[in-house]
Amino acid sequence: MSVSEVFILGVESSCDETAAAVVRSGEEVISNVVYSQIATHQPFGGVVPELASREHLRAIVPVISKALDDAGKSYRTIDAVAVTQGPGLAGSLLVGLSYAKALAYAAEKPLIAVNHLEGHIHAVLLEERQKQNREMQFPVLALVVSGGHTHLYLAEKEADGWVYHNVGHTRDDAAGEAFDKVAKLLELGYPGGPIIDFLAKHGDPSAVKFSLAQIKHRDRNPQNRHDPGGLRVDFSYSGIKTAVLRYVETHAMYPAIEARARLTATGLPPPDALLRSCDRSTLDLVASFQRAMVNDLVSKTLVAARQHDAATLLVTGGVAANSELRETFERRAAEEGLPVYFPSRQLSTDNAAMIAAAAYPRFLSGQFAEAELSADAALRLR
Ligand code: KG4
Ligand code: ZN
Repeated sequence: MSVSEVFILGVESSCDETAAAVVRSGEEVISNVVYSQIATHQPFGGVVPELASREHLRAIVPVISKALDDAGKSYRTIDAVAVTQGPGLAGSLLVGLSYAKALAYAAEKPLIAVNHLEGHIHAVLLEERQKQNREMQFPVLALVVSGGHTHLYLAEKEADGWVYHNVGHTRDDAAGEAFDKVAKLLELGYPGGPIIDFLAKHGDPSAVKFSLAQIKHRDRNPQNRHDPGGLRVDFSYSGIKTAVLRYVETHAMYPAIEARARLTATGLPPPDALLRSCDRSTLDLVASFQRAMVNDLVSKTLVAARQHDAATLLVTGGVAANSELRETFERRAAEEGLPVYFPSRQLSTDNAAMIAAAAYPRFLSGQFAEAELSADAALRLR
């Protein structure tokens, strides 16, 4: 086996996607299978942990088999198994982890534990390598923004792999959680991000003014070399959700919301039907909410980029699929002469190709998991 030909099977089950993929040498996606549980969770407007574990149990075997078949590989011909150890839902993580452990043991392959957030960062690196772009300048600042996370990391490449320093995070709700909760409040369906992304194009983003908390504070550890000015930039998204609720209450929007609830109760309606169910004030509210979220994410990330003298920006995680977020980042980062990279929309949301890609440097440096590896729902990235 030459080092240029390492085939890693990735397994991901941290939330509501059961996913498996085969990636060659951290730079080419050979197969990528994602089984989404959206239909299961849609009636509840959010992920129900017990249902998620049950669905993972049902899907894990066929999803892994398909990823291997699509890649023309078998348990015997892959070089390693990589699996998400955390963070995520404990019961969901356990399904992928137990299966990956058993598989690695039975096939006598090394097992590599991957942090889900590191996976999101490697989704971008994988695709840039796939496009032959090997010229990423350091320091790299990564915004990982999804349903469960809103984190800023400085990412560095060291001799035996990557290391990460958290330089900002949300104090309460994640950005994707705010999209999902606002969509639930307005009975728009689940998950909220893609739906709001679509509807916002039809509303006036300046119609409703939202102000988001500005949280800059001194780092508790002034010796921290990654906080040169001792300042951190954090996010907070529980307030905007409450502001949307107040707006709904004070603008008599409930009758329209209740009417729409009947439409979305049985599953997500086609986009045009959903659009027709939204009056002008709903579309304006949704567009204004998205504009406020995007401006806050972009502005704070650029403040952190200036503070840490970042040379490259990565934006990743489910919310990175948002079209207004991408356009705004591209425009504002270009104004500052800062290159910004996103994953394709397919690799923005949860998948296992990113897990297999993140495992590759660990494979090369022989960082394999012990037999006692267990899931860690609150695993931190460092
Ligand atoms: O990364 P991901 O699949 O799972 C987590 O690790 O959380 O992210 C899912 C989140 C959901 O909150 C979803 O609403 C949001 O990403 N999302 C979006 C878009 N597509 C997915 N948010 C805004 N705009 C989108 N187009
Ligand atoms: Zn994720």
